[in-house]
Amino acid sequence: MKILLTGKNGQVGSELEKSLAPLGELTALDRQGLDLSNPDSIRQLIRQLRPDVIVNAAAYTAVDKAESEPDLAQAINGTAPGIFAEEASRLNALLVHYSTDYVFDGTKSTPYTEQDAPNPLNVYGRTKLAGEQAISAQASRFLIFRSTWVYDAHGKNFLNTIKRVGAQRPELAIVNDQYGAPTWSRDIAQATAQAIGLYLAMAEPQRANGIYHLTAQGNTSWFDFARAAAECGLFADIAHPPALRAIPGSEYPTPARRPMYSVLSNAKLLKQFGIQLPQWEVSLRECLKCRLG
Ligand SMILES: NC(=O)c1ccc[n+]([C@@H]2O[C@H](COP(=O)([O-])OP(=O)(O)OC[C@H]3O[C@@H](n4cnc5c(N)ncnc54)[C@H](OP(=O)(O)O)[C@@H]3O)[C@@H](O)[C@H]2O)c1
Repeated sequence: MKILLTGKNGQVGSELEKSLAPLGELTALDRQGLDLSNPDSIRQLIRQLRPDVIVNAAAYTAVDKAESEPDLAQAINGTAPGIFAEEASRLNALLVHYSTDYVFDGTKSTPYTEQDAPNPLNVYGRTKLAGEQAISAQASRFLIFRSTWVYDAHGKNFLNTIKRVGAQRPELAIVNDQYGAPTWSRDIAQATAQAIGLYLAMAEPQRANGIYHLTAQGNTSWFDFARAAAECGLFADIAHPPALRAIPGSEYPTPARRPMYSVLSNAKLLKQFGIQLPQWEVSLRECLKCRLG
């Protein structure tokens, strides 16, 4: 089985490179290998490689920058997934793609299900929704996993940002009224490999086509996530670790608006595939190799 993976240097992509390798002959590409802003190169590569499974972990993920680069964000997050879908359908290949909690407006106070209507608040969310819609309309075999607050020990994410900034400041003010489920990229990658295996073994896999919420269990605020990471030794290498101060989101204006509540129910994933990720604190400890045990 031939597998094409894009975005191999990203948080999820780098973990997928490890978890997909046992499933077949893996071609893992970074931006130099395949630029998603170039539709012709996507078509050309897929027609040449003829993969059985395409896993698209590449995306425009700079949420605030997207506000000033909507066309590029749309090309990568909205248009490219549609091209993957068209090409995958021609080959009857399975397309696996990732989306985000930012398709929702965050006005609910109970976990969002796949049935809830999206209403993105920012450019990034709108372009990711466009990608979902293009795939749902055009792919014959597809799985879309929506995740939230993705982190890893490496890569561009909240934890590494507060670690970097915390080394330069005595105090960090962190938002305490936005809620989500911090999700480790390794958990996403391992669950993806498991779901692909189960999908391909089904007698009628198309019946499992669709969007699935794939996040850690439980939820927290950015402030409590930071505090848990600090207790786990996030700032252990810093001579003077920063104090953490809770603030409302209104005191931390950003170019892109974010949902206040973006917890996703994973019940559909559990029912269809029997997959459930660990509680967020458990994975955080594992990821940071928690020194306080
Ligand atoms: N991060 C989150 O909190 C979060 C939350 C929910 C959902 N998601 C979704 O989960 C998926 C994986 O996210 P992630 O956290 O792994 O993102 P990430 O670490 O930012 O990785 C994204 C990868 O896409 C690549 N990329 C960007 N533009 C490209 C282009 N034009 N052509 C080819 N590759 C390009 C980047 O390459 P460079 O390294 O060269 O820039 C990077 O390696 C995405 O679909 C994202 O929308 C993420």
